[in-house]
Amino acid sequence: MENTLNESPIGVFDSGLGGISVLAQLVACMPEEKYIYYGDSANAPYGVRSTDEVKDLTFKVVDNLIKYNIKALVVACNTATSAAINELRNLYDIPIIGMEPALKPAVEKYQSKDIIVMATPVTLREKKFNNLIQQFNRPENIIKLPCPGLVELIEASGGQSEEIKNYLKNQFAPFNLANVGAIVLGCTHYIFIKDSIRELVGDSIELIDGNRGTTNHLYKLLEEQHSKNKAKVNTEIKIVNSSKDLRMLDLSKELLEKQLNLLGWSGSIKYV
Ligand code: DGL
Repeated sequence: MENTLNESPIGVFDSGLGGISVLAQLVACMPEEKYIYYGDSANAPYGVRSTDEVKDLTFKVVDNLIKYNIKALVVACNTATSAAINELRNLYDIPIIGMEPALKPAVEKYQSKDIIVMATPVTLREKKFNNLIQQFNRPENIIKLPCPGLVELIEASGGQSEEIKNYLKNQFAPFNLANVGAIVLGCTHYIFIKDSIRELVGDSIELIDGNRGTTNHLYKLLEEQHSKNKAKVNTEIKIVNSSKDLRMLDLSKELLEKQLNLLGWSGSIKYV
């Protein structure tokens, strides 16, 4: 039986611009859907706050998104997922998909090498991530690299700046990269600085993120629930940002289109 929510939008949320990278992956996979994206840039970064603060901010944003009659929610933020996903799932009766650092593919592929996980301090200290590490045979080869201050630099520039390059240089200075098989990008903002990371670490280290995994998960769920949008329309996207700085909306669209280009998607978007 068809679900009455079919043509309702999918809500996508992040502390700021990072989730735009997830939105791009969603659009490339399900262009027939409608999306509402909420970036909480006024309150970014989340990743250096207390867990309770992250929870409170997350609940406020999700309360807001629910008013748009969303049929599913993607928490496109590793930090908010680690702090609040269980409570969100208890509160709302729609499918809620979160993000977590994509450790599994990294560990499976690089059995005898180190894996560096770049993420916010909250993501790396929360129980969710530490439970995840324990599922693998060699937890000592998984190196946590908290990156406080990096989200702010990405919010300020969209990901292209000398400050970001210098920040990364300092962060990676202590490591012997010859032992590293992969770097897991455990924060959705970091997708926008892939080029700078690549420039620094060279071509032999794989950069792995969880965007495709999250998208495939949602796709399967909507299929199972018969709630995919069957109407053939242009991709409809509403972007909302809590920042008073109106440039955040333009920057969001710019980053979305750039990311879609990188994914090889060339459809047209109707911004509403
Ligand atoms: N994009 C968020 C994440 O994936 C960044 C969190 C922050 O605002 O610090 O964790």
